[in-house]
Amino acid sequence: MTTETNSPKNTRDLSLTVNGKAVEGNVECRMTLAEFLREEMGLTGTKVACNRSECGACTVLLDGNPVYSCTVLALDAAGKEVLTIEGLAHEGELHPLQEAFVERDALQCGYCTPGMILSAKALLGRNPHPTEHDVRKAIEGNLCRCGSYPNIIKATIAASEKLAQKERVK
Ligand code: FES
Ligand code: FES
Repeated sequence: MTTETNSPKNTRDLSLTVNGKAVEGNVECRMTLAEFLREEMGLTGTKVACNRSECGACTVLLDGNPVYSCTVLALDAAGKEVLTIEGLAHEGELHPLQEAFVERDALQCGYCTPGMILSAKALLGRNPHPTEHDVRKAIEGNLCRCGSYPNIIKATIAASEKLAQKERVK
């Protein structure tokens, strides 16, 4: 929720959930979500590359959907749930997608990786058994300058299989 404050800098109070934790802040109206996460919260896993909605490096999940945080205002995340790459590991254990990216060498410089993994996570949330075509569609807004796409696709499918296995033994 946002509250107007009488400040020369034109700021607003902001509350939202980031990686499962309630967070409050007072932000300039023009601050982007990427700036809020990186500069106010120190969550530098969210990368900024083009800073204009072209590459997907800054992708985070907002209420489960991938968004380019470089062009979403922090205030537009008020009352919502944000998931960044830092929120994926659980009690020191990597998420199956993170494991699969490491095991399948799905990165080179790693700059696209947080956004890529979050787009893949959103895909697995709505489609637990994606085909190669499904993965390609899901990551079409994420640019990998190193051309790691073949291994990114294999890693995402491997993670979906691992997650399905975990479900079966539950
Ligand atoms: S940094 Fe946001 S889309 Fe490129
Ligand atoms: S691994 Fe370098 S941009 Fe994708």
